[in-house]
Amino acid sequence: MSEHHCVFSIFGATGDLTNRKLLPAFYHLEREGYLKESFRIVAIARKDKSDEEYRNEASNSIRKFSRRKVNEDIIKKLVSRIRYLALDIANTADYANLKRLIENVSGQSCGKCERIFYLAIPSYLFAIVVNNLKRTNLAEKARAGKPYNRVMFEKPFGNDFESAEKLNNAITKVFAESQIYRIDHYMAKELVQNLVVLRFANSIFEPLWNKEYIDHVQITVAESLGVEGRGEYYDNAGAIRDVMQNHMMQLLTLVGMEAPKSLNAEDLRSEKVKVLKAISKFTKGKAKKIAIIGQYSEGEIDGRKVAAYKKENEVRKDSGTETYVALKLELGNALWKGVPFYLRTGKRLKERATEIVIVYKNPPSELFKASGPEKNMLVVRVQPYEGVTLQFNAKVPGNKVIIDNVDMDFCHECKFGPNSPEAYERLLYDVILGDQTLFTGWEEVANSWQIFDVLNDAFKNSKPIQYEAGTWGPAKADKLIEKDGRKWVEPKRPSYAELVDKQNIMGVE
Ligand code: BG6
Repeated sequence: MSEHHCVFSIFGATGDLTNRKLLPAFYHLEREGYLKESFRIVAIARKDKSDEEYRNEASNSIRKFSRRKVNEDIIKKLVSRIRYLALDIANTADYANLKRLIENVSGQSCGKCERIFYLAIPSYLFAIVVNNLKRTNLAEKARAGKPYNRVMFEKPFGNDFESAEKLNNAITKVFAESQIYRIDHYMAKELVQNLVVLRFANSIFEPLWNKEYIDHVQITVAESLGVEGRGEYYDNAGAIRDVMQNHMMQLLTLVGMEAPKSLNAEDLRSEKVKVLKAISKFTKGKAKKIAIIGQYSEGEIDGRKVAAYKKENEVRKDSGTETYVALKLELGNALWKGVPFYLRTGKRLKERATEIVIVYKNPPSELFKASGPEKNMLVVRVQPYEGVTLQFNAKVPGNKVIIDNVDMDFCHECKFGPNSPEAYERLLYDVILGDQTLFTGWEEVANSWQIFDVLNDAFKNSKPIQYEAGTWGPAKADKLIEKDGRKWVEPKRPSYAELVDKQNIMGVE
């Protein structure tokens, strides 16, 4: 990768996302030498602060959240690129200061400097910022021969289809689609990117990737964390908006799509949209039959007592927000008709595990039926213990034919080493390069909201079922899949887990 320069402005520079993800990601880009000497960051938030104060705070965040041991010289180099600006998002006059600062740090007038704006702020503020950037001549539609100006939007993009459409209409008056980077960081996770390779670069998988051979698909995004200081946001969002409408739909579309013509953003997006459109529509009445929602009560995780959701800071004491959702979807297209996709996500579950499980049909031969062979499974372990496991049947040694299922594991870290780039590193670098492949197009967002608006609406006045923190969610979610004669596949520690843990404990600078 070659070096690139520009002025990168972050709105929401004192927020959780910037501290946990963006600053450590920039640190790693600095470490790898991907930032040109002239690359500058403008950190924007509401409070008054000196550059020095912000740089100190940023250094601490990098120390705390970096995925590897930090090098102090590299931190120093990175933070010396940062200038801090106090700005009131709603006050147009303040944007003149931003313009001045951008011109000052780039040493060029804004007509000549390359700019990126990262909006790590709630989505109801997106249009206000974009309009103020426009009024101050900091944003304009892309034109040949002009330096680029790009804008990145954190998820969720809107709160439902209507708000998302309104927002999209507002921002596309200022920016062309080619300048808009809607983030879904799941797309940039190594094992998610790997899905396309797994499917389309392997003749042992692709010919079987259809309704003839696949019984069903399970997608789990389980978190042991709770709402972690984001009670206010989460209580207005819930698990459907926070994870299922976006991250899980990215996983589903990558599993469900047909081979794109190429890997460029347009071709990939167009295949993913086809999958979203193929999802069988359901009514509010049907939604209650194919989904269940839950909310955690107090419990224990890793030997530690954790509070009930309703006791979390900033959460309404009588909150009806779901922290868990399980859903069965079907695709009505030729590739998948009759193959259910079971999805589940939740907070304060037993363990952190994001997995895609492809469960194959039994072979047609009756030869071993009496021995009760298990269905073959392909488990794509997105996190933790990134890797792929193929489970198949083998003969147990001895005189009789007894069958047991065995695992064949691909351990990502064992093969490629620890410290693969984190999703945000890739996303920040891609926006500097102008590559939209790992970002979401408007059509994807729109189609996904249309599905989940029905679900949200169906459960608007329903009380979520309570589940004990530290379990796999409400028992009723088991019934959802068991009534089809199937079972959730519990995430399990792969054979290589210990090795990976050891590598991580040693830590690498
Ligand atoms: C975010 C959600 O988009 O994804 C969080 O807002 C969630 O609530 C997070 O915890 C999960 O991301 P990851 O990368 O930790 O799996």
